[in-house]
Amino acid sequence: MSNSYLQLLLVLVIYIISAISAQPHENYDDSVFTLQVPTLEETNLDNLLSFGYYHKSCPQFESILQNKVKEWIKKDYTLAASLLRLHFHDCSVRGCDGSILLKHEGSERTALPSKTLRGYEVIDDIKAEIERQCPKTVSCADILTTAARDATVELGGPYWPVPYGRKDGKVSVDKEAELVPIGHENITSLIEYFQSKGLTVLDLVVLSGAHTIGRTTCGSIQYRLYNYRGTGKPDPTIDPKYLNYLKRKCRWASEYVYLDAITPKTFDREYYLNLKKNMGLLSTDQLLYSDSRTSPFVSAFTTTPSLFQHQFAFSMSKFGVIDVLTDQDEDGEIRTNCNFVNDYSY
Ligand code: HEM
Ligand SMILES: *[C@@H]1O[C@H](CO)[C@@H](O)[C@H](O)[C@H]1NC(C)=O
Repeated sequence: MSNSYLQLLLVLVIYIISAISAQPHENYDDSVFTLQVPTLEETNLDNLLSFGYYHKSCPQFESILQNKVKEWIKKDYTLAASLLRLHFHDCSVRGCDGSILLKHEGSERTALPSKTLRGYEVIDDIKAEIERQCPKTVSCADILTTAARDATVELGGPYWPVPYGRKDGKVSVDKEAELVPIGHENITSLIEYFQSKGLTVLDLVVLSGAHTIGRTTCGSIQYRLYNYRGTGKPDPTIDPKYLNYLKRKCRWASEYVYLDAITPKTFDREYYLNLKKNMGLLSTDQLLYSDSRTSPFVSAFTTTPSLFQHQFAFSMSKFGVIDVLTDQDEDGEIRTNCNFVNDYSY
C-alpha cells in the first residue's frame, strides 16, 4: 500500500468517527438535540434546527411520514430514487426550503435539469395527511428532507438523523435551477459547484453514490453512445459490452436505463465497482474514477464495504441543512399546500 493511500484511509476513518459521534444517542425521544457537525461551524445552527422540534406539536409526524413513504415505495419502488433526487435538487437551489415543489410559471420545477424530477405526488399526499392531523405545523422542506432519508432506508441504504424546523421558502426561480449539474460537466466544475454549497470533494464522491439506485432517461446519455463531443464515435471510456447493451436499450430518448446496471434496486456500493469496470452511466459518474482528485475516494469505497454507507449518512446530514430558513428568518413560512406559497392558496 502506498503512503498516500494509507493517509486517505486514515482521513476516512476520522470522518467516520466524527460522523458517528455527531449523531445523538439512540433514544432522542424526550430531549431536544441540535445538530453538531464540526464542518458546519460557520453556519451555527445551534438551537435553530432540532430533533425534538415537532415533539409537542406533531409527535406522530415521523411515523406518518415513514408509513406513507413505505406504502408508496411498495407500490412503485422507483419512487425511492426519485424522492432522493428531488431532495438533492431542492437543497441545491436556495437551500433545503421546498422551493423545488413550488408550481408556478418560471419556478425551479420548470427548469431543464428539473424536467425528469418526479415524486411530487408522494410529498403532496404526505402533506395532506399531516395537515389533517397537525394543521399548519410541519414544513414541506422538513417533509421532503425526511422522505428522502426514509426512501433511502427502504432500499437498504443508511439511516441518518434529520433535525427539524426548516421553513418553506417563498421564492423559486427557474434560472437558478439551470445551474444544477446535468451530467455533462467536468470534474473541476462539479468540485466548484459542491464547494459553493460548502461541500467537499469527498462529499461529491459519496453523494454521487446515490446513483446506486434509480435511472436516467436515455435522452441524458445518448450523446455518449454515438457522437461523443463531435468525434462521430462513442465515448471511448465506456466498456464495449456495456456500450452495446446501452445502444440496444436506448433506441428512444424517452426510454429509461438504470444508473447502476448490476444492483439497481439496492442501495449498495456496486456503483463504485461499476466505475472501476468502465460502467459508469453518466460521464460525470465515470469521470470520478479517472480524475486523480476523486479516484482515491472511489477506490476506498470499493475496498471497504461499510465505508460508503457511513460516509453517505454523514454527508447527507450535512447536505440536508444547507442554507435552511428557520424561525429566525422572516422570509420563511409553513406552507399549507407544498405547491403554492400561502398567499396563493386562499
Ligand atoms: C454530482 C453531480 C450530479 C449529477 C451531474 C447528477 C445527474 C443526474 C442525472 C443526469 C440523472 C438522470 C436524470 C434523467 O435523465 O432522468 C440523475 C438521477 C439521479 N440522481 Fe443525480 N446527479 C448528481 C448528484 C446527485 C446527488 C448528490 C444525489 C443525491 C444525493 C443524486 C441522486 C440521484 C438519483 C437518486 C437519481 C435517479 C432518479 C430517478 O430514478 O428518478 N444525484 N442524476
Ligand atoms: C470545465 O468546464 C468549465 C465550464 O464549462 C470550463 O469553463 C472549463 O474550462 C472546463 N475545464 C476543463 C479543465 O476542461
